[in-house]
Amino acid sequence: MGKKSLCLLIASALLAYYIYSPIPENVEQRWKLMLINACFKTLGHMSTVAEKLGLANYMEILMILTNMEHTAPRSDEKVTVTDTKFNGVPVRLYVPKGQPDSLKRAVIFIHGGGWCVGGSAMEPYDLLSRQTSERLNAIVISVEYRLAPKYHFPVQFEDVYTVAKYFLQSSILEQYNVDPSRICISGDSAGGNLAAAVAQQLLDDPDVKVKLKIQALLYPALQTIDMDLPSYQDNEYMPILPKSLMLRFWSEYFTTDISLHKAMETNQLVPAELSHLFKYVNWSNWLPEKFKKGHIYTTPTHGSSKLGEKYPGFLDPRAAPLLVDDIKLRGLPLTYVVTCQHDVLRDDGIMYVSRLREAGVQVTHDHVEDAVHGALIFITSPFTLTTGQRMVNNYLEWLNKNL
Ligand SMILES: *[C@@H]1O[C@H](CO)[C@@H](O)[C@H](O)[C@H]1NC(C)=O
Repeated sequence: MGKKSLCLLIASALLAYYIYSPIPENVEQRWKLMLINACFKTLGHMSTVAEKLGLANYMEILMILTNMEHTAPRSDEKVTVTDTKFNGVPVRLYVPKGQPDSLKRAVIFIHGGGWCVGGSAMEPYDLLSRQTSERLNAIVISVEYRLAPKYHFPVQFEDVYTVAKYFLQSSILEQYNVDPSRICISGDSAGGNLAAAVAQQLLDDPDVKVKLKIQALLYPALQTIDMDLPSYQDNEYMPILPKSLMLRFWSEYFTTDISLHKAMETNQLVPAELSHLFKYVNWSNWLPEKFKKGHIYTTPTHGSSKLGEKYPGFLDPRAAPLLVDDIKLRGLPLTYVVTCQHDVLRDDGIMYVSRLREAGVQVTHDHVEDAVHGALIFITSPFTLTTGQRMVNNYLEWLNKNL
C-alpha cells in the first residue's frame, strides 16, 4: 500500500468516526440525521476553539447558522408577512388573507435555540409560522426576543411577556380582528420554556383580562435543578442536543460565569435550605414506569447557597416552570405537549404532563418514539426529515381542531 492510499484510508476512517453518531435503530433517515449532526458538531467544535482562543463567546459562533438561515419577510397570495414591533419588542407578524371579515384565531409563537441562538426569521421558523397562519387562517405573532450571552434572564422572558400582554389587550385584538376566546401561546424547546413560563405568569396579572385558550409546548425545557434525569442519562450524546450543549444553554441563560455551568455538570444546584423544590421534579413520582426503566432515583446533592444568591434566576419559576405549586398550575389552559424519546429534555415535558394532569389541567401528550430533539425544525432543505414534517402536521392538525 502506497503512502497516499494509507493517508486516504486514515483520513476516511477519521471522517467516518467523526460523522458517525449512535442513533437508535427506530429513528428514520439515520444517515441523513448523522450528516446533519456532523454539521452541528463541526459548528460546535469551531465554537469551542474560538472560545478557547479568546476570539468569541461560544454562542456567537453558533449564531452563524441562525444568520445563514435568515429570511426577509415575504408575503404571498395567502399570508401577509411583516416585521414590526409590539410595545418595543420586534415581532414577525403573519396575517392570513382568507375570509378577511371573519374573526380570526391567533398564535403567539416563540422560537427555540437555548435562549442564545435562533430567530423568528430563521427559515424553518418562518415556514412553520407561515404554515400555521395559512392552515388555521390565524394571525401568528413570532417573537424576536433578545438573546444570551448579550442579554441574560429575565430579559428573554420579559420580551415575550411584553408581547403577549400587549397583544391580549382588547383594543389590539379588535384591531387585528382576533377572537379573544381563541388565542394560543406556543413554542419549541427554549421557546416552549418561555411559553410555559409566560402562560403561568399571565394567570396572576391583574391587567390581563383575556385568557389563553391553549398552550402548546413542543419538547420544552422546564426545570433547572436536576440535570441527571433518566432522559439526561439516556441521551447524553444524542444528536442535535447533547447534554453538554443543553447545560451550556441553561447556564448561559443566567450568566456567562462558569461556576453555574460547573454546578450543573455535577448536579449540585439547590442549597439545602431549598430542598423542598426537589419534590416538583422528583421523577420517581412523576414519570410513568416505562421511562424509569434501568434507573434508580437519588436526590441530587445540595449546592452552595452562594450560587442561589448570585444567580437567583435559575430557581425562579419564570425560568423553570416546573418549580411551582399545584395551585399555580390549576388555572392553566388546555395544553399540548410534544416529547421525543431520544431527547435530554424528554422527562421535563413528561413530568409537566403528569403534574398538570394531577392539577386537573386537560393535556394532550404526543410522545414521539422515533424522534430526537429539535425534529420540528428539520422541515427546510437540505435539512428535511420526514419525522419533523410528520410532527408539524400532527401539531397543526391538533391546533386546528382545538383552537
Ligand atoms: C422522591 O420520591 C420518592 C418516591 O415517592 C420518595 O421516596 C423520595 O423521598 C422523594 N425524594 C424527594 C427528594 O422528594
